[in-house]
Amino acid sequence: MSLPDLIVRPRRLRSNATIRRMVRETTLSVNDFIYPIFVDETIDAPRQVASMPGVSRIPLSMVGELVKEVASLGIPGVILFGIPAVKDEIGSGGWDSEGIVQKAIRAAKAASPETCVIADSCFCEYTSHGHCGVLHGEDVDNDETLLNLQKEAVSYAEAGVDIVAPSGMMDGMIAAIRLGLDEAGFENVPIMSYAVKFASGYFGPFRDAADSTPTFGDRASYQMDPGNRREALKEAWLDVEEGADMLMVKPGLAYMDIIREVKDATNLPMAVYNVSGEYAMVKAAAEKGWIDEKRVVLETMLSFKRAGADLILSYHALDVARWLNEDK
Ligand code: PBG
Ligand code: ZN
Repeated sequence: MSLPDLIVRPRRLRSNATIRRMVRETTLSVNDFIYPIFVDETIDAPRQVASMPGVSRIPLSMVGELVKEVASLGIPGVILFGIPAVKDEIGSGGWDSEGIVQKAIRAAKAASPETCVIADSCFCEYTSHGHCGVLHGEDVDNDETLLNLQKEAVSYAEAGVDIVAPSGMMDGMIAAIRLGLDEAGFENVPIMSYAVKFASGYFGPFRDAADSTPTFGDRASYQMDPGNRREALKEAWLDVEEGADMLMVKPGLAYMDIIREVKDATNLPMAVYNVSGEYAMVKAAAEKGWIDEKRVVLETMLSFKRAGADLILSYHALDVARWLNEDK
């Protein structure tokens, strides 16, 4: 038996750590991360989220301290979610100038002015029924909700937010928020759109964390069907046309193909949300000793970048920053 004449031997470029480092196509940096923070108006000490080990809801009094810790690790941004003391039918807590997110924005900016403070703009944490807007019968009224999104975005901007991030998948939400912000004199506040958000089982642990589970039905009449790829591109393009400054795909792991396609089709900075269920799975397997947590997490984060993401919203962000800093 004779051997083939191998001219091309890819293994030449894998023979040691240095050469591998030289030809690596994708790299991770702390600059790529945004850390989600849950601020709960009803507590005065941190409360662990049972399904998300390492993640807690925190009281307003701890926001400044946590944002400073995030900044000290080199992470450029945080995204805030609020759990209000009082909910109502329309979610009016979302645009209360003394609301929990508005207070948290002010606390975060006061503690760490250079940190990019993003606010998730939706109503599911604020409505008594847990849906992402005003109900008309059993369905969310799109245009009524747009008016409330404008008020919410303006009140976040008045509190000093750096980026508004609408996550409710309402039609026209980017156009409406852009107009609302511009009319109020906030033409320089960018919008990061949750442009392509799928109706996903992976949001389960978040809904415990943010107390935002719908009391009836599901979100399938506004979030996207997981089977749809062409529609994902349509949603992304609509948001580009409506004036979004950044786009997001969510969840991440099950939608890597969508990240790549949206990235190739548009020219905006692209974020991916590595959601609560993805985090919970890794934590559970690591706790059992079935996977190497650091290795799996870093590999996953690198893969988001390779798929085309510029920014990663992740509950792993603090650990990742520590690992990246210690491996330097
Ligand atoms: C609110 C919102 C959700 C997430 C971010 N913003 C939940 C949902 O749509 O039910 C999910 C985040 C996560 O699972 O980590 N609209
Ligand atoms: Zn919502």
